[in-house]
Amino acid sequence: MVREILVYPDKRLKTISEEVTSFDEELHTLLDDMYDTTKAQIGLGLAAIQIGVPKRVFILTIPEGDSEEMVSREETLEIINPVFTLLEGKVKKQEGCLSVPGYYEDIERYSHAIVEYQDRHGEKHTIDNDEFLAIALQHENDHLDGKIFVEKLSILKRKKFEKKWKKKFK
Ligand code: CO
Repeated sequence: MVREILVYPDKRLKTISEEVTSFDEELHTLLDDMYDTTKAQIGLGLAAIQIGVPKRVFILTIPEGDSEEMVSREETLEIINPVFTLLEGKVKKQEGCLSVPGYYEDIERYSHAIVEYQDRHGEKHTIDNDEFLAIALQHENDHLDGKIFVEKLSILKRKKFEKKWKKKFK
C-alpha cells in the first residue's frame, strides 16, 4: 500500500527512531508499504520515519549498473537496526530525498562504509561498500537519527535552500 511521505520541514522527520525488536507481520507490512511508496515515486530509498513510523528501518532500491528499471521487491535491500562499524574516506556526490522533492545538491560523505544490520527475519548481515551504496546507506541512516541531508549544506547554501523552499509552499 502506498503511504503518504512526510515533507520537510515536517517535525516528525526529526524523530530519533527506535530499534526493531519484533520481526513480525507488522514489520513485513511496513517494509512492503515502504517498497510500494518508493516505487510510486521512483525513489532510490526510503526510511520508515518518512512515512511517519519511528523505527530503525530503511530500504534501498538502487538499480544494478546502468539499468533504469525500478528494482523488484525481491532485489530491494531491507536494512533494519543498522550499525556502522567503519566509515572512512571522503566523497562529494549529488543527493536528493523523497522528503525534499525536487531539490538536489552535492553533499560530502564518507566514501567507504561497513554496516551491520538485520533483515526482515532478524538475520544478521554485513555490507562493505565504497560506491554509491555507501553514500545511500549514510543518507538513509541519518533519517533514523532525525537528520535530513539539507542540514549538511554550507550555511550559505542552506539559506538559499530555505528561501527557495518557503516560496514553494506559499
Ligand atoms: Co532521504
